Amino acid sequence: MSVQIAPSILSADFSALGRDVAAVGRGGADLIHVDVMDGHFVPNITIGPPVVRSLRRATALPLDVHLMITSPDDYLEAFVQAGASMVSVHVEATIHLHRTVHAIKSLGAKAGVVLNPSTPVSALEEIAADVDFVLLMSVNPGFAGQSFIPRSITKITAVRALLDGVGNVAAPIEVDGGIDLLTAPAVVVAGARILVAGSAIFTAPDPERATRDLKAVADQALLAGMPPR
Ligand code: DX5
Ligand code: ZN
Repeated sequence: MSVQIAPSILSADFSALGRDVAAVGRGGADLIHVDVMDGHFVPNITIGPPVVRSLRRATALPLDVHLMITSPDDYLEAFVQAGASMVSVHVEATIHLHRTVHAIKSLGAKAGVVLNPSTPVSALEEIAADVDFVLLMSVNPGFAGQSFIPRSITKITAVRALLDGVGNVAAPIEVDGGIDLLTAPAVVVAGARILVAGSAIFTAPDPERATRDLKAVADQALLAGMPPR
């Protein structure tokens, strides 16, 4: 097993998304991370289903859609129909989380649950057995280019223990925010298996190479002898 790299198009050139996703694809990206923001749940506005639909035609890689919006239930179908393979919702934005997770699954996508940095791991307890993956924010959502919050490391370990404890050993932990060549090894050692990276990849002079380098560093950390998964 290797660590999956999910470049976030938030830091890509929105006028050349096809070119940018092709570049990270050549670099070995496993997923394309799509940050959807509504200006309410987070103080920024990005994109909606039409862009996901265009991306679906531009790349064969699975589209990992991270919904940072209020009322995510109202848009699940639109995003899955547009081509999302994975859809994640914030516990802070979702009232009936169990219903939402199963709605995503019944639409045929993988269901992820996201925790903000200040949200305790205990918020996952009742849903941990149902999720396909957990996305841990290691910055406050809304913007690319922020610094990794070190406390996220212990949170990764705690979520891994929670998932394993309920028998959901197959569900990976994805980490999002401030991931680069310096922060990646520690999150992998702690148990992360999907790394989102925006600025570290798309503000690099060569995004293809930046993807390859991040994957190499992450896989090295995995091999260096860490706890399983
Ligand atoms: C932040 C987004 C992230 C963002 C990460 O709200 O969810 O996916 O693009 O950007 P970097 O990797 O630059 O922290
Ligand atoms: Zn994200």
